[in-house]
Amino acid sequence: VVNMAEEAKKQAAYTAVDNHVQNNQVVGIGSGSTIVYAVDRLAERVRQEKLNIICVPTSFQARQLILKHGLMLSDLDRHPELDVAIDGADEVDADLTLIKGGGGCLTQEKIVAGCARHFVVIADYRKDSKVMGEQWKKGVPIEVVPMAHVPVSRKIVQLFGGEVNLRMGVSKAGPVVTDNSNFILDWKFERVHSWKDVHQAIKMIPGVVETGLFVGMAERAYFGMEDGRV
Ligand code: A5P
Repeated sequence: VVNMAEEAKKQAAYTAVDNHVQNNQVVGIGSGSTIVYAVDRLAERVRQEKLNIICVPTSFQARQLILKHGLMLSDLDRHPELDVAIDGADEVDADLTLIKGGGGCLTQEKIVAGCARHFVVIADYRKDSKVMGEQWKKGVPIEVVPMAHVPVSRKIVQLFGGEVNLRMGVSKAGPVVTDNSNFILDWKFERVHSWKDVHQAIKMIPGVVETGLFVGMAERAYFGMEDGRV
């Protein structure tokens, strides 16, 4: 199953890079495990086809990937307009609303995606759902300023119910700290919502930096399937 999912990620990533990246483009590089395959393919194409591609990372991880492959690294100061951004997701529903931030990189991912003319999602079959919450059980990641994590958690529960947990480190004592030096809350919701309304309401709470709900941003999603198709 693990190998099948990895193969599915690879197929989705390769297809998206082949379909959406052309010479002389500025490309946003997402975060997570699926994007690793996309950068592999991008680097291969840059070498083979002698492409001129400028990459804008969405995280420390993405920056490392770009550097490791010797790709051209830039940022939003120099390239605030991207041709395309490619990224993974934790869950994708039928409206192409996404939950992102399983890896904690949601804020920069959303900023970069918001600067791109096209935003393309790559994932394996486990991320494909009709109704949000069907696949991703850990809840919606929300990046918060550290001193606000308790009041923000309480306000989210008051507004929408469910349960909010401060994300804790795995090989570190204490909370996960993001690339922006903030904390991550994981909100386990109990029912289906209007995700746009929920996103807007949560974003208005003082101390919230960004939510992992990407509403109306993704233009296309590529899913690698169990049988090898995309
Ligand atoms: C990072 O914070 C996330 O938004 C990732 O893009 C998302 O978790 C997808 O990761 P995988 O490709 O590892 O599933």
